[in-house]
Amino acid sequence: MTDQELVEKAFEMLQYSYVPYSKFPVGAVLESIDGTLFTGCNVENAAYGSAICAERTAVVKAVSEGHRAFKRIAIVGNSEDYCWPCGSCRQVLNEFAPDMKVLIARKDHSFVSFQLDELLVHGFGPKSLK
Ligand code: THU
Repeated sequence: MTDQELVEKAFEMLQYSYVPYSKFPVGAVLESIDGTLFTGCNVENAAYGSAICAERTAVVKAVSEGHRAFKRIAIVGNSEDYCWPCGSCRQVLNEFAPDMKVLIARKDHSFVSFQLDELLVHGFGPKSLK
C-alpha cells in the first residue's frame, strides 16, 4: 500500500469520529510490521479530559490484539493545517516504534512525512528506564 493509499484509508475514518464538543474529527491508520492495519478515530466525552485521540485509539486496538511493532501511521484531519499529532500521542507511539514513519495530512489530502523521532526528539522510552 502506498503512503497516499494509507492516508486515504485514514480519511475514511473521519466518518466514525465522535466529536460533539470540538467538531474536529481526526482519523488514523496504524500499520503493523506484518502489514496488518488498525484504524482509529477520536472519541470525545462529556467530561472533556476523557477524550481519546485517533492515534491512541489505533495503538490500543493494535496492542490489545498482540501487535507491538509498527512501520507507519497516517494521521488526518479536515483542517487547513496538517493534523499534527499531539504530544501525548507522540509519546504513546514512541513506546513501540521510535523509528516509524508518520504521515500527516490536511483537508486537501496532501501530506508530510516524518520519522517519529524527528517529531519527538530525545523522547523518554523503554530504554530510558534501564
Ligand atoms: N486529536 C486527535 O485525535 N489526535 C491528535 O493528535 C490531536 C487532537 C483530537 C482530540 C480532540 O477530539 C480533537 O482532536 C480536538 O483537540
